[in-house]
Amino acid sequence: MTELEEKLLGTQAEVEAALQSVKDDAGLEALRLKYLSRKGILPGLMGQLGKVPPEEKPAVGRTLNGVKTAINAAFAAAQARLQAKSEELAAVDVTLPGRVRCHGHQHPITQVMEESVAIFRRMGFIVADGPDLEDVWHNFDALNAPQDHPSRAVTDTFYFDLEHHDYLAPDTMILRTQTSPVQIRAMQAHPAPVRIVCPGRCYRRDTPDATHGMSFHQIEGLYVDRNVSMADLKGTLEHYAKEMFGNQVRIRFRPHFFPFTEPSVEWDASCMICGGKGCKVCKNSGWIEISGAGMVNPKVLEAVGYNPEVLTGYAFGMGIERIAMIRYGINDLRLLYENDARFLRQF
Ligand code: PHE
Repeated sequence: MTELEEKLLGTQAEVEAALQSVKDDAGLEALRLKYLSRKGILPGLMGQLGKVPPEEKPAVGRTLNGVKTAINAAFAAAQARLQAKSEELAAVDVTLPGRVRCHGHQHPITQVMEESVAIFRRMGFIVADGPDLEDVWHNFDALNAPQDHPSRAVTDTFYFDLEHHDYLAPDTMILRTQTSPVQIRAMQAHPAPVRIVCPGRCYRRDTPDATHGMSFHQIEGLYVDRNVSMADLKGTLEHYAKEMFGNQVRIRFRPHFFPFTEPSVEWDASCMICGGKGCKVCKNSGWIEISGAGMVNPKVLEAVGYNPEVLTGYAFGMGIERIAMIRYGINDLRLLYENDARFLRQF
């Protein structure tokens, strides 16, 4: 092969490679100028044909023609490719608004639950857990609930297999009616001091309405140590309320009764809608009821083998749905369970 033929073939390969990666008309035009214009590379090589010895001319001429045809075809192909691309772009309306991808997010109940846990963790509580399917002893007896306590009625609690079990027998299984049995389990598992919170699901035989469901969530808290007082309870709940509802919130205790705490209270937060002045939400009282709480009854400490002469403690149990409703201004509990995305997207 002559030197000229080598140059010709080398140029063809170079042009073909350059055309493959050309991105727009300007790039294509630049290549055309470089290789095909009058002073371009290919006419320059063609000019050298005159210096080729006559006996080699036919062969070199054939190579030259082949290279010319190939380069012209490569330019045509590149042009067609660019043309197709620009037509494709023209068919898309680039001014249309983009489509927003819908990301899922946590359900408001999960949000309130996790945020509550985070607040208590910052105060030194650790998370404990217990079964939803509980026995009567942990749910009632160990918590000092007398056998005739109304919540133990078969019309109020979901019992399992009552054909073979007495609803009062300690090992009869139920769906837990509260997270309080986790207090018992935590104290049985660990010597004092214990400081736990337990978020979880509870079940009661209620007819669902705007403020009741057959299943709901609570977060239980328990702190048992030497010298734990009601002032500790109040400080802890006040801090929780401020973190959850805002810094201006005040709290108050009202006397109440629970078998497992003595004294027992219900605690209210000042109404975050009217700031305590009185409005529709707080029924003009300026206060909104949050949950039950109290000092752990010595009988409960005895039931788990703690010494009530040395140890005292407080406990609280809050309804998560209730807190979510207050916080987000939701007036019907059922909205939280219908899973209507248009509703849930707001939170
Ligand atoms: N377990 C009680 C209830 O479900 C709430 C509570 C928990 C009250 C702990 C006092 C202490 O109503």
